[in-house]
Amino acid sequence: CIDIGTLYKDTGHFTYDPGYASTASTKSAITYIDGDKGVLLYRGYPIEQLAANSSFLEVAYLLLNGELPNAAEFDKFEHDVSHHTMMHESLKNFFQGFHHDAHPMAMLAASIASLSAFYHDDLNVDDPVDRKMAAIRLIAKMPTIAAACYRYSIGWPLRYPRNNLEYVDRFLHMMFEVPSEPLQMSPVAAKALDLLFILHADHEQNASTSTVRLVGSTGANPYASIAAGITALWGPAHGGANEAVLKQLEEIGTPDNVASAVLRAKDKNDSFRLMGFGHRVYKNFDPRAKIIREMCHKVLAELGVKDPLLDVALKLEEAALKDDYFVERKLYPNVDFYSGLIYKALGIPTEMFTVMFAIARTAGWIAHWIEQHETPGSRIGRPRQIYTGADVRDYVSADKR
Ligand code: ACO
Repeated sequence: CIDIGTLYKDTGHFTYDPGYASTASTKSAITYIDGDKGVLLYRGYPIEQLAANSSFLEVAYLLLNGELPNAAEFDKFEHDVSHHTMMHESLKNFFQGFHHDAHPMAMLAASIASLSAFYHDDLNVDDPVDRKMAAIRLIAKMPTIAAACYRYSIGWPLRYPRNNLEYVDRFLHMMFEVPSEPLQMSPVAAKALDLLFILHADHEQNASTSTVRLVGSTGANPYASIAAGITALWGPAHGGANEAVLKQLEEIGTPDNVASAVLRAKDKNDSFRLMGFGHRVYKNFDPRAKIIREMCHKVLAELGVKDPLLDVALKLEEAALKDDYFVERKLYPNVDFYSGLIYKALGIPTEMFTVMFAIARTAGWIAHWIEQHETPGSRIGRPRQIYTGADVRDYVSADKR
């Protein structure tokens, strides 16, 4: 048998940790989570305080720079972001090449990766000025490209960004036709969306952020690294859960069917899971879910939206929180459980939910990518494995097999 001791002796230390449940891959000063106590801090600030007082753009500045901006710093940042919102005219042509009913996440990942073909003159990952520029461009262009993905998928002409609008208003303006969609242009909608963006802006070494760092560790450019993060986010066990939650609530249909859904989720012979429940790190509650739950009730009430799926969601939450299976495994509603209901109330289509998450998480991804490049001695990410294959054997020619 192959001698594992000999194979791994160069590492000095070797652990087997499937899913990296207890392995820190990096040091980071950006986000702190205490999963047992339900604590989430961005650069030391509690998420509850940022949600109540800040804006997404201010939070993006905080994640990138480590401190909240003063008025002049914020004005400069807002100015920079609003002057890089346009996408290259040639990038618009890409959309004609996508199938008309392509998933918006597919178009988003491809479009963001393609930015490295448009902004290739200042891609020196070792230059702090280039790195900052890439961060501004990504935060600025993400909503423009996201809205383009949506409008292309429904056959509408793309809309240019209006740079005199604030970040979230600008995005809503690009998404919807103002006169026919007054709902989305209401201040309640903009506030709700801004809050969702704050809550989704960063979450330390989750699957997509770790992906950005792993790709970044090879020296890949920022657009390629963020595009990789987008593809990792897409999966239903991660950011794709917000889309999956809504589809699942629709399938459950009425509160009467909740009990059978809970029963199914507990059946170990069935791969069915309650989407929007459980978290690798939070084993008490997800502080973001608490804030979103409250916001969901407020938004639906203020917009006068009556959504029967909210009743299904409430019943599901109640049933799961009382059920031993979920209690023993510490499975609580996570950030994605209620976010979809808010997006739906704002008229954002289900396929766009994970795109919304990606817009917000771009701030965190690029902050991590920059931190990685600012950290002296960063090494290429290179996990090892426990080999379980065949022992050494001799090649057998085709006529003897
Ligand atoms: N429904 C039913 N059972 C569940 C669920 C669920 N949603 N989540 C976990 N479990 C069970 C597992 O079957 C397992 O049971 P067992 O111990 O009897 O085998 C136990 O709880 C532990 O689950 P793991 O999958 O080992 O937990 P892990 O930390 O690897 O996964 C994850 C966390 C992916 C979030 C998981 O809870 C899940 O799939 N949830 C549904 C998808 C979801 O909502 N994802 C969004 C996460 S938040 C985010 O990424 C933004």
